[in-house]
Amino acid sequence: MNARQADLGRATAAAQAAQPFDLERIRADFPILQQQVHGKPLVYLDNAASSQMPQPVIDRLVRYQTAQHANIHRAVHMLSELATTEYEAARCKLQGFLNAAEAREVIFTSGTTDAINLVMHGHGRKFIRAGDEIILTTMEHHANIVPWQMLAEETGATIRVVPMTHAGELCLDAYGALFNARTRFVGVTQVSNALGSINPVKAMIATAHAHGVPVLVDGAQAVPHMPVDVQDLDCDFYVFSGHKLCGPTGIGVLYGKAALLEAMQPFKGGGDMILSVSFEGTVYNTIPHKFEAGTPPIAAAIGLGAAVDYLGAIGLPAIARHEHALLQQATAQLGALPGVRLVGTARHKAAVLSFVLDGVHPHDVGTLLDQDGIAVRTGHHCAQPVMTRLKLPATVRASFAFYNSPAEVDALVAGVRAVQKVFA
Ligand code: ALA
Repeated sequence: MNARQADLGRATAAAQAAQPFDLERIRADFPILQQQVHGKPLVYLDNAASSQMPQPVIDRLVRYQTAQHANIHRAVHMLSELATTEYEAARCKLQGFLNAAEAREVIFTSGTTDAINLVMHGHGRKFIRAGDEIILTTMEHHANIVPWQMLAEETGATIRVVPMTHAGELCLDAYGALFNARTRFVGVTQVSNALGSINPVKAMIATAHAHGVPVLVDGAQAVPHMPVDVQDLDCDFYVFSGHKLCGPTGIGVLYGKAALLEAMQPFKGGGDMILSVSFEGTVYNTIPHKFEAGTPPIAAAIGLGAAVDYLGAIGLPAIARHEHALLQQATAQLGALPGVRLVGTARHKAAVLSFVLDGVHPHDVGTLLDQDGIAVRTGHHCAQPVMTRLKLPATVRASFAFYNSPAEVDALVAGVRAVQKVFA
């Protein structure tokens, strides 16, 4: 980006920041929100599982498929060059979204899970040995637990776990005390998918770096809700999924500091990740291509680029303010209902509200809410250690996005009251 483009970018960002948050206009961008479910207007509150896609992102996918599609990095014909340009432009958009120092630090993966597995295979298997220790937290999603357990089983390394309070806050003193000469890696989620707790990852990264230990931040539940600056965080790896960010499924990002990515082993071998191949030996390509073997999800990457453009035009600070107001409203209204127990009351939370009802299984709550057109997730949310810590089998989870309205929070509360009446 040259100086003039940077100036234009700043001017556009400033103009966008000055725009009011127009909820009706935003909702009109989401065709799926206009439909009815079981004869009732859809109230979509399962955004932590997957968010919906606005028309500009859908249009971008259609434009790519109808006029720009070809394989990338492979041919000299016009369409291949165009697709390559658009794919690499999407990488630059993601670089800007994360404020990564360089575009080559952005690796396209199939999602958060794929990105964590790539770090486990590429970094973990190279640098972690028997007797070494990996620090994770109680509130990790299974995707940031199971790969490290597989590595521990393979290498003889040990996993140490940061405890969590009943409110859903990490015990930072205990975290600091877990470091020793054998600590090799930290994995921590920035926002708990089950509870919404926002973890102080910047301070946790500083603690790890004071011990010379790299940190992977799972940002899957953070990037849809708040501005993220990987240079400010100083994280070594940052991972997230496109489909929670108004983008397509099948696409995600691994950000890594260039030096760490260069030191990593590739996980998948194949086309595009090589500079030369012979039966005597293969020379791997440079980053980011070293980690993108085979034909990547080109359309999905371009769609994700369009999604971050869309979110950038609204502004993540405005999104965070709107969602915080929804969370406060829902917390106050649901918390005031007799027989409702809120689960996860950390001081700093993103737009997730977990709860249980006295005498009603969460799955029954979810099924009855669905009859009212209200989509929530119920279960352990792929975070069973959180449920074990809180001695719960499951919760009901409402998770908000910037396109949700105060009226939808009212509908959720009314729906919960109706469920209570059924079981009274
Ligand atoms: N990780 C996603 C969730 O929390 C699927 O629902």
